[in-house]
Order: sequence, then C-alpha cells, then structure tokens
Amino acid sequence: MSNNRRKKRIGILTGGGDAPGLNAVIRAVVHTAMNDFNVEVLGLRNGFDGLVEPEDMIVLSHSQVRGILSHGGTILGAANRGNPFSRKTIVNGKEVISDMSEQALDNIDRLELDSMIVVGGDGTLTISKALYDKGAPIVGVPKTIDNDMGGTDVTFGFDTAMRTAAEALDKLHTTAESHSRAMILELMGRNAGWIALGAGIASGADSILIPEIPFDLTPVINRFEERAANGSNFNIMSVAEGSRSKGGKQQYKDDAGLYSGRLGGIGQTIADELRIDSGIDSRCTVLGHLQRGGSPTPYDRWLASLYGAGATRLAMAGAYGMMVNLQGREIGSISLSDAVAQTPKIVNPDGDLITAARGLGIVFGDE
Ligand code: F6P
Repeated sequence: MSNNRRKKRIGILTGGGDAPGLNAVIRAVVHTAMNDFNVEVLGLRNGFDGLVEPEDMIVLSHSQVRGILSHGGTILGAANRGNPFSRKTIVNGKEVISDMSEQALDNIDRLELDSMIVVGGDGTLTISKALYDKGAPIVGVPKTIDNDMGGTDVTFGFDTAMRTAAEALDKLHTTAESHSRAMILELMGRNAGWIALGAGIASGADSILIPEIPFDLTPVINRFEERAANGSNFNIMSVAEGSRSKGGKQQYKDDAGLYSGRLGGIGQTIADELRIDSGIDSRCTVLGHLQRGGSPTPYDRWLASLYGAGATRLAMAGAYGMMVNLQGREIGSISLSDAVAQTPKIVNPDGDLITAARGLGIVFGDE
C-alpha cells in the first residue's frame, strides 16, 4: 500500500440490509479516528458498490456525523446485492456476472486507504473475509437485526427490532382479546428466530414459531382451545418468516421472480389453516421493514458506538482480517474467518432459552 501522506486514512462502508445503529458506528469511527489517532475517514457509498465504483465519496469529519447517533438508516447508504466477486453488469444489452474483486482491491490503493472498516451481516462479512484473503486491509463490524451473525454475542440492530416487534405484539393483544381471535405476527428471521423468540417472550405470546423448530399446528390449536376453555378466547402468535412446518419448506414471497429470494407468506398460510382446520378466526400482520427502521434503542446506540470505537482501534493496530465483537459485557475481537464459520448463529432448540419459554407456557409447535 503506497503511503507518502502525513495523515493515514480509514475507509468505511455499510453493506447488506440496514439496521438501526449504523450511523452510531460511523460516528464512533469518525470520533475515535480523529480524536485518538488524528486519522482521516472516507465514507464509501452504497455498500461494496462504493468500493468497486467509488462515486460521490464523502470525507467524514465531526460536522458530517453531528446529530446522527439517534438516527436510523445509514448516511452512507447500503446495498444488499453488491458482491464484488459476482457483480451484475450489462454487456451488449445482456446481464453478465463478473468478478470485480481486483478492481475493489485496486481502489483501496487508489483511494490511499490504509484500512477499511466494513459494517455488515453474514453476506457482507463473508465477502470481507474473501477480500481480506486477497490482501485487503479489512476490519469487520457485525450488524443485523436478525442477530444471526456468528462470533459475537449480539449484533446491533437486534434490540431495536425486538422492541418494535414487541410493541406490535402488545397492540395485537388488545384487539385479539376484543374479537376473540388468533393474531399472527410475521417477523423477520431468515435462518434464526431471535426476533420472534425475544419479542414473543417479552409480549407474552402463546405460541412462537421459529426456523430452528419445525412446527405442527395441532399443539397451537390445542393451546387456543385450552385457553378458550379457561376464559381467554384469543391467541397471540409470534412467527419468524423463515419458519416451516414439519416436513415442509420455507415460504417465499412469490413464484414470479419479482421478489426472488425474499421470504414471506408463512403467517398468512398459518392463518388460513387455523380457519380451515379449526374455524379459529385468525388474522395475520406482516411487520416487514418496520423492524429495520426507526431510532436505535439506547442499547443499540451503546453497542454500535463501542463497536465503532473498537473497530477503529483494530484498524489502527493493523489487526486486519478481524471482526470486533461482544463477549459478555466486554468488547473484543475474533477473526473474520472464525466469525463467518460460526454463522448463522441460531437459537438452540434444546437450550435454556427455549426451556424457559416452554416453562412460561409458550408452545413451539413440536409438542
Ligand atoms: O438480513 C436481514 C433481513 O432483515 C432478513 O430478516 C430479511 O429476510 C431480509 O433482510 C429482507 O431484506 P430486503 O431488504 O432485501 O427485503
């Protein structure tokens, strides 16, 4: 890496789906880099797109990050379809997939970046590991509302998503009771049911369906009937979008390819089945991207700030190929390689959390 400048320079990008707390990371990187190391920070736009084809970059200093700590989204933009190793381009009017990773590496040199901080989930950090293997001076920061990134206890964004989901379940509770209905809330969670489980426990759901535990609706129906016999003729279900019935498959949004690869629809399928099989009046609400939006909770601001500060220190120490992480209450680090190998971090169906939830009377559909 050429470096005849007086000041060192860190690049930062935010990849994958956004999560509340991204701005807090950016702010913490800028403050730590400038205050503690007198280093410049360059923001690249729209995830890895901004490294392959850098446009409209932004030199980040205190004034650019002023007031963003409590803001959702990311001032740098995000992109969850921008893998430099398989980038879609149009050649002679045809879509072709090309490996642009060399271009990404060249741009790190060209922009005189001494290191790159990449904030992302499993997809983004898997790409980061591959770029690091090719020589890129990358440090990772784990982010995802799904909380399924391995190598860390918690990812930022999760706490905010869980709060949004719990608030929705609380609201569904009152209308479920008024109308004697089953209310199903479909939540994000592709491979892991952390949001559905956390919010379900927090809001007193009667049943929780998660990808880790294939379900059968019979125990759910039995629970509804048991409760009805005891005077509570309503039911609250917290369902991860990646859940599937025993022997069944995960459900995708459509077959027409308009939303290819996007999960969705399991909640409505369950509502239909409850009506058809048992005559239970059911409604499904899909919370969708509301879970990714809004102001981060204080916990997510705290975690994201500590991650940003920690990642900057790793970058300045030359600890490339590492990811900042949370171990208990301490900020530490792990190699990107180990973190990616431990992904997805799923709910242990035989673990204490599920045992405790069952003890609370929650049904998982495998009883
Ligand atoms: O990875 C986070 C996530 O929120 C998943 O739970 C969900 O399936 C996906 O992103 C949705 O992504 P998109 O923004 O592409 O619709």
